[in-house]
Amino acid sequence: MLFQPKLFHLHRSCIYYTARGKSSKMNSISPPEAVKGMKEWRPELFNKKVQLPCLRVKSEHVSSLKAPLKNFVFKMPNLSNVQPAEMSENATDVGGDKLIILSPQTVKSFSDLSTVKEHLDKISVKDENFCLKDFTLTSDNWNPNDKLKHILPDGEDVSGFSRIGHIIHLNLKDYTEPYKNVIGHVLMELPGIKTVVAKTSNIDNTYRNFELEVLAGEKDFEVTVKENGNTFSFDFSKVYWNPRLSTEHERIVKMLKSDSILFDACAGVGPFAIPAARKCRVFANDLNPESYKWLQYNAKKNKIREDRINCCNLDARDFIKQVFLQEFLAMYKEENSQDRDIHITMNLPALAVTLIDVFQGLLWNDREKISGNEFPLPILHVYTFSKAEDPHKDVLQRVEEYLGITLDTVHLKEIAFVRSVAPNKDMYRASVKIPAEVLLRDLSKRKLAENSIDEKNKKLKE
Ligand SMILES: C[S@@+](CC[C@H](N)C(=O)[O-])C[C@H]1O[C@@H](n2cnc3c(N)ncnc32)[C@H](O)[C@@H]1O
Repeated sequence: MLFQPKLFHLHRSCIYYTARGKSSKMNSISPPEAVKGMKEWRPELFNKKVQLPCLRVKSEHVSSLKAPLKNFVFKMPNLSNVQPAEMSENATDVGGDKLIILSPQTVKSFSDLSTVKEHLDKISVKDENFCLKDFTLTSDNWNPNDKLKHILPDGEDVSGFSRIGHIIHLNLKDYTEPYKNVIGHVLMELPGIKTVVAKTSNIDNTYRNFELEVLAGEKDFEVTVKENGNTFSFDFSKVYWNPRLSTEHERIVKMLKSDSILFDACAGVGPFAIPAARKCRVFANDLNPESYKWLQYNAKKNKIREDRINCCNLDARDFIKQVFLQEFLAMYKEENSQDRDIHITMNLPALAVTLIDVFQGLLWNDREKISGNEFPLPILHVYTFSKAEDPHKDVLQRVEEYLGITLDTVHLKEIAFVRSVAPNKDMYRASVKIPAEVLLRDLSKRKLAENSIDEKNKKLKE
């Protein structure tokens, strides 16, 4: 083959696909009109008879024409642009000549090859070596992008789906719903894909996993993926995983030093905790027993030293009140403890801000042990969504409300944009050094936000 077409556009563990924007430019021939609007997978509708310009040359001259004909050869997936000139009945090459298939867009007649005439003359390739030959193209000759572009209504696409190991995961929209079976079939052609799923519910359950509908392939949700050099295995139908958070995971891990400590309150299967534990001591927690199971598994698989990671299966607030508090008090007795670099991650964007009032008065009952001494202020990284016009103001306002304090520039480290989730909905991280005044607040004087869990519990008891 003179030119090997590159079939798919893959970007790290995500495939950013849009039938509108990223369709292959190499196909100069469109599939038949009959495929438009196909709702049941009928590959035969892609069959198309075409006449393609060809040059008949001796086998031994094919390689010398590779460079000169580079811009003239026909490029389509699964169609070799060098073919035997004559085939026997059982499709084996009987003669020594080859046909080089040329692009019908650039070559209409032999005279269109005038710029390479010198090369053709040298090997006595003339007008009579030029012919038009019939070919039948099939579904295999278009890549998935091109197929979907021609199947879906004009201007519609399957955009921004993710690849998680052997699974492709996409969100169906109203206009793609009727085409879901066909979309599933077509995406199964991507290399290494065994399952195509769509989420059937919004991600609003406690464990942030999706209910999945298998559009095509095996009902096998156990995957292994790589992120930032670590391997993560999990059952995608039972836990949360989002390949679009890899940069944020990396950002947090970069902040840690060898003597840091990370408390990851909503750790999932470990994308913060596992790479962090390569650097420093980590306490990782998740409420979902399945996440907890895979978190432990991934720690082992990635050969994390046992004294580096502790895994817990608690509610995030209990994790802070029990595990964090116990470790913090133990740490505080150490020499130079005020210099310890302590980080707490709470990546549960729909809820996490409402959980941070747990820090109000966290040290109140232990104030005697602490009094008179300096202690390290932990840095909290809490994630949230914002749809506000001024997201910084919105995020800050909510964080301050749940901590019950106005943050000064010493304590407010950063409000960082993490990623865009939907049009007008972005994910943010507030990184805050929790003020001593918050941690030592008199428990009876906690400033509880109206929507806080503690406030609700208090009202229930009244
Ligand atoms: C958005 S995911 C983040 C997972 C992981 N940290 C990541 O970055 O991919 C939120 C995680 O919080 C867990 N979770 C939900 N409610 C929780 C709670 N009350 N306490 C602790 N974890 C909780 C979910 O099971 C889920 O794994």
